Amino acid sequence: MTVFDFSLLPSSAAIDADGRVAIGGVDLASLAERFGTPLYVYDEADLRARCRAYREAFGEGAAYASKAFLCVAMAQLVNEEGLHLDVATGGELAVAVRAGFPPERIVFHGNNKSYSELQGALQLGVGRIAVDSFDEIERLEKLAADDGYLPSLHVRVTPGVEAHTHEFIETGSEDSKFGFSLERGDALRAVQRIVSGGALRLAGIHCHIGSQVFRLDSFGRAVDKMVGLVRAIEDATGAEVDELNLGGGLGVRYLPADAPPTIAEYATAIREAVGKALADAGARSRPRLLTEPGRSISAVAGVTLYTVGTIKSIEVRTYVAVDGGMSDNLRPVTYGAKYETFLPARAAAERPLVVTVAGKHCEQGDVIVRDARLPADLAVGDILATPVTGAYCQSMASNYNKVPRPAVVFVRDGDARVVVRRETEADLFRLDEIP
Ligand code: LLP
Repeated sequence: MTVFDFSLLPSSAAIDADGRVAIGGVDLASLAERFGTPLYVYDEADLRARCRAYREAFGEGAAYASKAFLCVAMAQLVNEEGLHLDVATGGELAVAVRAGFPPERIVFHGNNKSYSELQGALQLGVGRIAVDSFDEIERLEKLAADDGYLPSLHVRVTPGVEAHTHEFIETGSEDSKFGFSLERGDALRAVQRIVSGGALRLAGIHCHIGSQVFRLDSFGRAVDKMVGLVRAIEDATGAEVDELNLGGGLGVRYLPADAPPTIAEYATAIREAVGKALADAGARSRPRLLTEPGRSISAVAGVTLYTVGTIKSIEVRTYVAVDGGMSDNLRPVTYGAKYETFLPARAAAERPLVVTVAGKHCEQGDVIVRDARLPADLAVGDILATPVTGAYCQSMASNYNKVPRPAVVFVRDGDARVVVRRETEADLFRLDEIP
């Protein structure tokens, strides 16, 4: 099949008789005209539907991992949908605060939180801190002693589980900079220090095995390891474990052939695995199950629009260069990530051309889609779109080659609103001290 598979588009997408695609009731090509390109377009209804699916499956137990895509409007949307929020740095926390996100529903992550980041988070009253190292425990003990805080902690555990994903986004295996090793006993030692010290409160334990994970058995193995730790904690300290956070990681469909589990399947599988593991281990604890999805909330909702600038046929291939590239989507060059492409103004057309969609950066690896399929009448000036670019594209965007970062537009019920404005040339030297 060489026509574009519409099922990769967000839920409100519609196509008219001429093959023009609209999202949120707004014609995509006209958005490019109105707001310029490159442009990140998000289907607000799709974002909300995925938040709701997580709420349905986990109740109060789901936190959106803001690293996938964060701006003030997104934090507000997540708040309106009743999810909690995972922030991984003081910067993400600052955006959440600016959005008015209730601090008690924020969990603060990171493998190297500074003293002042921790102090700021405690001053704000963040609900949970996922503690990642003995150095951090020491900082928290000092803050508790000096300032009288009683921080509620999740101990981040490295469970030693292969997630079967790209090695750069595989975080649960033994050789990881994140968390306390289960295997070496560090995780239990961290818990013992927290429970026996009295200055800190153990809220639960946490692990995150990796991202873009398709295999439910990988999560199942993590559950077994974590429940083993629950039992070990009960035996060693007498304490029960109130919360079990299994991190994020559920994969999404970037290409038609991808078949990740649904949110509901994922929830059912881990819930059953936890129930069974607790029973098998003879554990007394009945921890609340928590999850931290990022990609599976924001990826599919986002589509990036570009303008085709040059078409160059050389012997081995045809390069179609667009007006963005690795500065707005670093994933192909970093992880070898693959994407689909379509022309929003003729999305139902056959796509006999096989081309390489490249960016405008001074780097040969600056490719958005290798072997992209496009219609035969592709021409300079066409608007070209890459679907499923709502996660880890805008959040990892840069100003490489001093390319201004794109605007972000939310579409809904026929309306489009700019939630992040496009950078201007003046933004590119706004930090320079110019005598
Ligand atoms: N919780 C923790 C502690 C995490 O480290 C992450 C992702 C998540 C939750 C959310 O995972 P998700 O549901 O989005 O898979 N830049 C990479 C992905 C890095 C993921 C980092 N941690 C990419 O573009 O594929």
